[in-house]
Amino acid sequence: MKNSKNPLIMLPGPVAIHPRIYEVMSKPIIGHRTPEFVNLLEETLEKFKNLLKTKGFVAIFTGSSTSAMDAAICNCIEPGSKVLNIIQGKFSERWMDITKAYNCESIALKTEWGKGLRLKQVSKVLDENPSIRFITIAHNETSTGILNDIKELGDFCRNKNKILIVDGVTSVGGDHVYPDDWNIDILVTGSQKCLGIPPGLGMIWIGPRAWEIIEKRKHISTHYLNVLKYKANPQPFTPAITLIIGLNESLKMIEEEGHENRVKRHRIVAKALRAGVIALNLELFAEESYYSNTVTAIKVPEKLTAKQIIEEMKKNGVIITGGQGHIKGKIFRIAHMNLVGKDEILTTLTKLELSLKNLGHPLDSGKAVEAAKKVFSDN
Ligand SMILES: Cc1ncc(COP(=O)(O)O)c(C=O)c1O
Repeated sequence: MKNSKNPLIMLPGPVAIHPRIYEVMSKPIIGHRTPEFVNLLEETLEKFKNLLKTKGFVAIFTGSSTSAMDAAICNCIEPGSKVLNIIQGKFSERWMDITKAYNCESIALKTEWGKGLRLKQVSKVLDENPSIRFITIAHNETSTGILNDIKELGDFCRNKNKILIVDGVTSVGGDHVYPDDWNIDILVTGSQKCLGIPPGLGMIWIGPRAWEIIEKRKHISTHYLNVLKYKANPQPFTPAITLIIGLNESLKMIEEEGHENRVKRHRIVAKALRAGVIALNLELFAEESYYSNTVTAIKVPEKLTAKQIIEEMKKNGVIITGGQGHIKGKIFRIAHMNLVGKDEILTTLTKLELSLKNLGHPLDSGKAVEAAKKVFSDN
């Protein structure tokens, strides 16, 4: 995936894209009402549902992942209703912004960034605000590199009769996410992360309890994102034909690799990267046991800046990114989604070691790659 012209992209989206995807996407356009495309869309939706181990409803919007987040709130929640927005970073905070944009009442549970969620924190807010019916969360909080236990939260919400709305933008396709088994009510994701295609698609899965609410609503304040239209017809407007063709191919590739193998690969590369990072005398930002398998946040060592590290990495051919919000400048992030395997991790660690050395950070040469190689050989 890398040569002197093409740097190695280790961003949390957009991710590096396999040539097979570019190949299918570069074919001449076809009409969206042709049987060829109608069948392809149907097949793509089926493959996507297989990935989530569901037979439930899925719609694909032309828009980034945020379009699907927007759709989740405006289709399901009546203005004025109370929503518990669990905020653990920049992306879970977006749920609050959308909640407020649709004149719903946001009750924010702000936890320390980098820390995982404890159910007792949720329980306390619900005890104080029993009329809350809806809860939002990010499964994988990309801004801090933490992964929440959604099954635990889903079971809890089901017991309490709450509607759970989950952002799976950087977990679907790279980690286990099973909305039926986990008692999720609405799940959203996007195209340019673990699903491995360019940006431009937002996907929404809606479970039966959320449907019951949506179907009873008298007015839904959106036209383009109105899921009733997508339920009646999977393509009520001209879809992003080329991106859907790319998604179909990517889902084929996921099937070929095997979803379990893919998740295992993401877990091993994440573990190898973390081992290498620690061997470079760096500290991870996320709380242990909540580590994300698709993105790693690393504390900027004393005497260096995030900007220096990111720029030095870029000079050395690897694109990484920094922190957001109040942790901007305090962390840098390396993502490991979609195609990332052993080679990409070893290259990244080699370049990270070189970059840090150039910047004067004390380290033992060769230790990072050695630590990562050990993870690969042990797994
Ligand atoms: C967890 C999470 N949610 C939502 C988004 C927003 O996605 P988009 O930029 O595709 O709208 C991102 C983007 O990085 C993300 O990582």
